[in-house]
Amino acid sequence: MNDDVRKIIYGTITVFLLGVMAWISIIYVSACGVTLTCNRGAPRVDRTPIPTLIPATLPAQDVSWQSEPPAAPPASSDTCRVSAVNFIGAWATSQTPKSTEADPFYFVDKDGKNCEANFSEALALFNQPNLRGADSLACTSCHSGDLTVAPAQLDLSAFAGIIAGSRREANKPKGVNILGGDWKASLLYDFLVNAKPNIPGHEQALSPETMISAGKPFAGPLPTATP
Ligand code: HEC
Repeated sequence: MNDDVRKIIYGTITVFLLGVMAWISIIYVSACGVTLTCNRGAPRVDRTPIPTLIPATLPAQDVSWQSEPPAAPPASSDTCRVSAVNFIGAWATSQTPKSTEADPFYFVDKDGKNCEANFSEALALFNQPNLRGADSLACTSCHSGDLTVAPAQLDLSAFAGIIAGSRREANKPKGVNILGGDWKASLLYDFLVNAKPNIPGHEQALSPETMISAGKPFAGPLPTATP
């Protein structure tokens, strides 16, 4: 009698365990197939790791000018072509203690034309990336108005900063004059045209051959001497 009860209990337990194992197997096989690696168990990829490339609908931008100075446009009487270095030099040497941001300055362009320009065009060059060759940073990306971070405490982002000069520790109103009386002896000229491999941001120099279009022809003799 006792044996019968025990058989029934063991039998029930065995059947129950077999049932559980069969059930797990059915779930496993239906999910994974007859395999031990269960690749199907990996989470489904709804997004590929590489973003889908959307075909460009606009023509690619022409960036060739960024590595090479643009070709000179056909000589026309209403534009002036000048080397960027000479253009900045013409502005720098035109500065007297009385000069303001609004004063025009004058230069002779590469074709010998008398031309007139204003400070904003010189400032634009300090703000322009790639001026000194492909991937060169704009001067103002380092020499910004925030003197606590600007290298050499030099702000090239505004007239006042350029005039105030460099090395203005603790925001001193006046620092080292970067314009110089003699343009080619000035700090600005030196740091523009001479590559300085050891100074970050100055690995590339501005070639005196880099031509820009700036200013406009000026009728009559130039009011001031130009370099
Ligand atoms: C990547 C940052 C960076 C860029 C961009 C940069 N400079 Fe500089 N510049 C420096 C550093 C760094 C120094 C050296 C600071 C020092 O000696 O304490 C320096 C020094 C100078 C100095 C000398 C100041 C002095 O008193 O010694 C001048 C002038 C100058 N830069 C002008 C320019 C001009 C003009 C441009 C753009 C054509 C330019 N910099 C772009 C980082 C930069």
